[in-house]
Amino acid sequence: MALLGSAFLGLITLLVALLAPTVIHYSKIGGPFLTPKPTVLGEGQGPIVIEDTVHCEDVHHYRPANLLFTACEDEITTRFDWFPGLGHLEPHAAGRGSIHVVDPKTMKSSRLIFENFEGQFVTHGIDVIADPKNAAAVYIFAVNHLPNPAFVQASEKEREGIESARSQIELFHHVLHSKTVQHVRSIRHSLVYTPNDISAVSPEEFYVTNDHYYRDGLLRLIEDIWPFAKWSNIINVRISDMKAKDATAGLDASVAHSGLWNNNGLGAGRSDDEIVISSAVGGELYLGQLHAVNHTISIHTTIPFDTVTDNPSYYTDPYRSESDDASGFVVAGVSQGIYLGQTGHDINGKDPLQVWYTRQTSSGTWENKLLFEDDSSRIRTASAAVLVPIEPKGGNGRKQAWLFVTGFLSESMVAVQVDL
Ligand SMILES: *[C@@H]1O[C@H](CO)[C@@H](O)[C@H](O)[C@H]1NC(C)=O
Repeated sequence: MALLGSAFLGLITLLVALLAPTVIHYSKIGGPFLTPKPTVLGEGQGPIVIEDTVHCEDVHHYRPANLLFTACEDEITTRFDWFPGLGHLEPHAAGRGSIHVVDPKTMKSSRLIFENFEGQFVTHGIDVIADPKNAAAVYIFAVNHLPNPAFVQASEKEREGIESARSQIELFHHVLHSKTVQHVRSIRHSLVYTPNDISAVSPEEFYVTNDHYYRDGLLRLIEDIWPFAKWSNIINVRISDMKAKDATAGLDASVAHSGLWNNNGLGAGRSDDEIVISSAVGGELYLGQLHAVNHTISIHTTIPFDTVTDNPSYYTDPYRSESDDASGFVVAGVSQGIYLGQTGHDINGKDPLQVWYTRQTSSGTWENKLLFEDDSSRIRTASAAVLVPIEPKGGNGRKQAWLFVTGFLSESMVAVQVDL
């Protein structure tokens, strides 16, 4: 009896020890006790609603042309049933989205017309990079969560054990200010199975996160809630044949980093050899060094937040001085992610959000500041945000910018004016 009692006590102690970090973490990041406090905006601060930006998960500010690029679902219903990023796996619902350009001066979005790209396009993370051979053009990498044809064709009975999704990356080329986008090639590799976000180093090389190891089921749930389930990784992909017709041909890939929990968003860092990585449910940003020699990443800095951290971006303050530099990282996330399992399937659901900004102080510490918060009434979910600088006027030294916020379930991207 005594033996049994102490074994029982031991089991309880073990369970508490194992569960405590999860519970503590979740009461912070998952937001069960959070009361959203929507940011009060003054006269002229927005929100400006950008029309025709339905469910655009990611956004990038291409500074040389002062244009924003985003990839959108375009259809309000499809994502609630098919979006592998959320574990929504009804392949009949897979849609056809598009790449949009948003002009931060007119606050208008225009869809680019595909010239040679047919079929489904289920959008998620993107990256935009200059064409080294043409200053007036860019390359756009975009995740495409295609259903697996073998799964679609199989009968209900045969589907057991067949992967439902066969995600790939699409590479596009776009001449700035033109209305079209050309498909360069598709990229599919067995190491890239749950792609989420992309950070390109050149038109021939990029990094991509696998946000989960498991696509569905109990093990995916464990990955979502268990801080020790560090099964996600980052893959480096090199393209040797830009003209390959076969998505799997003319490329090579290797693991660039593994051992982070739910690594999710990627962005360019402060220099060419720096990358910023987020752990979404971990609520952390990591700064890492890219090693060109072996295509790996080593992480040197961790910046913790108190909310889900999705796609990060780096803002370079064009008006910086030695004593006043507003450059910093911006990261958006849902603030009550604990409910996403239910709300994610509900077209009328609500998903509050926060957008954070962090900059390094002169003493080297990171100072986090809440830039925007909403209870889902002005925008639902936030997964990416970028800052577009506003020219300082009146010499009062105030640093301001337009913050563009978009989400994986947002009906429209919004722009709000913020002080940095
Ligand atoms: C990759 O190269 C860098 C720089 O030479 C080195 O520090 C790192 O340990 C290497 N990583 C691996 C996994 O070989």
